[in-house]
Amino acid sequence: MKVNDILEHFLSRADWVDRETTVDRVIVGDAGIDVGSCLVTWMPSFKVLRQMVEQDMQLLVCHEPTFWNHLDKRPVNDAGIQEKLKFVQDHELVILRNHDCWDRWPEVGIPWAWADFLGLGSKPVTIGADGYQHRYDIDPTPLETFARLVTKKCASFGEPQVQVTGDGSQMVSRIGIGTGCGCDIPTFQQMGCDCSIVCDDGSLYWAEIQRAEDLGHPVIRVNHATSEEPGMVTLTEYMNTHFDGLHAEHIPHSCVYHLVGN
Ligand SMILES: [Fe+2]
Repeated sequence: MKVNDILEHFLSRADWVDRETTVDRVIVGDAGIDVGSCLVTWMPSFKVLRQMVEQDMQLLVCHEPTFWNHLDKRPVNDAGIQEKLKFVQDHELVILRNHDCWDRWPEVGIPWAWADFLGLGSKPVTIGADGYQHRYDIDPTPLETFARLVTKKCASFGEPQVQVTGDGSQMVSRIGIGTGCGCDIPTFQQMGCDCSIVCDDGSLYWAEIQRAEDLGHPVIRVNHATSEEPGMVTLTEYMNTHFDGLHAEHIPHSCVYHLVGN
């Protein structure tokens, strides 16, 4: 299967994606090569790139950028970017990004996979206008109890504690979950949510989370990678189901940091 055909499969089914401006493209490498297998990971870390070389794998399908900026710009005067680019080119690796398509892919894309992973089900009560923010309703549960349920799930992706603001005894039942920077708390409130789960891709404590705290709206904050890892599992499953002759293997990125305490 040609790398370009994989890209085309997704783009041709995503009418919400503008082909002219999307970041979904071959970031580095030859789109014309034939591949029988690939790795799927959230972000092409150097660790994963080295693993590709060790496994003699040529194609990496990813969700987030390779070069630490959304548009994968590669200024020649940035030594770090040039070092990573050289590694990819020297080993003739191909990096294919699937971000804009998978963020809104119905039923198995990022927000659906995240909600399902958290045990919220697969049928959002409401989807925000941008397609990235969902509301799921649960039985009324104290915030603290609900946060522990989230923690239990996220532990498997290396995040055994989540950040919570709000009164732990406050009952919550209308949960907002989002997609990366698409976690706007006022939008969740407009959707009728009484608790928002956000990630660290743009949700700041001094700004919108403090606003929520002041207004009595509980917030649970997790790492960006944790919240999108379930979507990488579903992307891998999707590729193995829909592409004959291509075997995809998921490499978890998992939570980027760990907490140190006494
Ligand atoms: Fe993201």
